[in-house]
Amino acid sequence: MEKNNNFINSEVSIETKTNPIIILKNVLKEYVIGDWIVRAVDHVNLSIFESEFVTIVGPSGAGKTSLLNLIGGLDSVDEGEIYNSGIKITDMSEESLALFRIFNIGFIFQNYNLISTLTAEENVIFPMMLAGMTLEERRERAVKLLEEMRLEERKEHLPFQLSSGEQQRVAIARALGNDPPIIIADEPTANLDMETAEFIAKLFKKLKESKKTLIVATHDKALIKHADRIITYKDSKIIKQDIIHDILKDNKNFKKA
Ligand SMILES: Nc1ncnc2c1ncn2[C@@H]1O[C@H](COP(=O)(O)OP(=O)(O)OP(=O)(O)O)[C@@H](O)[C@H]1O
Ligand SMILES: [Mg+2]
Repeated sequence: MEKNNNFINSEVSIETKTNPIIILKNVLKEYVIGDWIVRAVDHVNLSIFESEFVTIVGPSGAGKTSLLNLIGGLDSVDEGEIYNSGIKITDMSEESLALFRIFNIGFIFQNYNLISTLTAEENVIFPMMLAGMTLEERRERAVKLLEEMRLEERKEHLPFQLSSGEQQRVAIARALGNDPPIIIADEPTANLDMETAEFIAKLFKKLKESKKTLIVATHDKALIKHADRIITYKDSKIIKQDIIHDILKDNKNFKKA
């Protein structure tokens, strides 16, 4: 077996040779609507490494959002196990998982999911729980994040008063609020103009440089060009993985075989 592929094809080598931050073991997710069963995630095995930038590409309806929701602990598996930072999140209670998510995962949704009755600034502050921060400090951090997203003049706006691209950037600011080590993004540049999409691609490059673990469903070449690994997802399965940059080779923290 080639060195590059040893953590992809063999479940055993995943655990004995490396230390992934996220592990999926035989994960199944089905949606039952009346007589119809849609299998969105079909016994998927996957390991993602700390500070790795993984992109997931695949046709509409393949199950990318379903997969990201499971990795992010937003939905429950029907079968299988998911580990995050050594913790089996598929065994956690809803309350514990919600708290775990707040500190560990920033989730950028395909449809933004902003709270419609809160302003841009309030949306960013809402999940912010950094230990020891006063409301004033949280507000300052939210404003700073909105400024970084070039939204300083939009902080009092409600979601319906913002363009799609502006809502997307508020959603990104919100995901970064607690400075989580893992960012999951579902098509973060879809429906954006080229300039805004390029701006967000550069932001992801910076997040990568700051050693965040990034898992992004996207078809955007500007984002994919920064990826360490490209996963092709089709018919609810991983059908191909291309390693662009073998981060295990460079990272001394990993236990190499
Ligand atoms: N909550 C749900 N209830 C029932 N079926 C669902 C649900 N969510 C997704 N599905 C079905 O699961 C399949 C995978 O959907 P999913 O949204 O994960 O695909 P996707 O790859 O993200 O597609 P897109 O590129 O269009 O965003 C689809 O056939 C969809 O209809
Ligand atoms: Mg989707």
